[in-house]
Amino acid sequence: MNKITAAITAVGGYVPDYILTNAELEQMVDTNDEWIRTRTGIVERRILKIPGQATSDLAVPAVKELLAKRDLDPNEIDCIICATVTPDMIFPSTSSIIAYKIGATKAFGYDLNAACSGFLNALVTGTAFIESGRYKKVLVVGADKMSSIVDYTDRNTCILFGDAGGAVLLEPNEEGYGVKDSILKTDGSGRDFLHMKAGGSLKPPSIETVTAKEHFTYQEGKTVFKFAVVGMADVSAEIMEKNHLSSDDVAWLVPHQANLRIIDATANRMGVTTDKVMINIHKYGNTTDATIPLCLWEWEKSLKKGDNLILAAFGGGFTWGAAWVKWAY
Ligand code: UT7
Repeated sequence: MNKITAAITAVGGYVPDYILTNAELEQMVDTNDEWIRTRTGIVERRILKIPGQATSDLAVPAVKELLAKRDLDPNEIDCIICATVTPDMIFPSTSSIIAYKIGATKAFGYDLNAACSGFLNALVTGTAFIESGRYKKVLVVGADKMSSIVDYTDRNTCILFGDAGGAVLLEPNEEGYGVKDSILKTDGSGRDFLHMKAGGSLKPPSIETVTAKEHFTYQEGKTVFKFAVVGMADVSAEIMEKNHLSSDDVAWLVPHQANLRIIDATANRMGVTTDKVMINIHKYGNTTDATIPLCLWEWEKSLKKGDNLILAAFGGGFTWGAAWVKWAY
């Protein structure tokens, strides 16, 4: 019997309607369109403004789209892994809420937090479930309502982030398609450069933490940039070398969308030309766990069976990594 691989067999994505433009941000903080475009590549981002809606409301439309495309009954889903840093609540898991909202009564699920590398970590975890033969249909979701943890008076961070959800379905494949290899890394010495200071067990929420705005995203951008630009490029080159893939062999680079300059550096290091790089940061900004599935969703129609994709991410932790995926349809 051939080895079982975990193939991505369907993709769904969702962005909320409200468009927060650079022009609107100019009215909110001391920034300007030119700075944002040239330093980040971002032109606009989507914001979930509907009261009472949360990260699961970004994930559910993406999952429903995916299920509809494949005409799947939610009760066929074995497992839901939701990568997020903005769960609906600290507990229960957003996966439980997604399972309930889509009517997946037979699935188990849990959330996974690896910051901006969360989707990659969830994909690799889901892959192991499929490869082991234990489960047949694993939903891997990446969703974040970043606007819920962004301080819209802080120009260092508020220009960067957007809200979105994306999802892929993993199923067993015996023809060698799917997730072929991955490299994942963590270095907690970077924890202070990108984090949320309060709200966890280290600093439970209090009037003081709220007053000090410690429930918002804090980032030392320059330091994170330095690590991200090296980390994402190195790990992408490493996975190509490890698997003897040349730049010609790579059909697409699917990078986490944090900064266009980091994406360009990664593509350069891999020797991959811009036409083979999925870039939508200008439209959506940094949607944290949703960036990679959102790219797959947008480019789905351009993908061909057998295409070699390199997925790459870098984020808080620090966490970073890359995966080689052979597209299955
Ligand atoms: O997704 C998770 C991983 N995250 C990342 O990968 C993000 C990595 N970091 C970055 O993408 C970049 O560091 C930023 C886009 C966040 C910032 O760009 P930068 O080129 O590193 O700018 P900087 O922080 O060094 O700031 C340069 C200047 C500063 O002014 P002075 O000190 O030179 O006078 C800032 O105060 O730009 C100023 N600045 C701004 N100016 C206009 C910072 N933010 C803004 C702003 N508008 N929004």
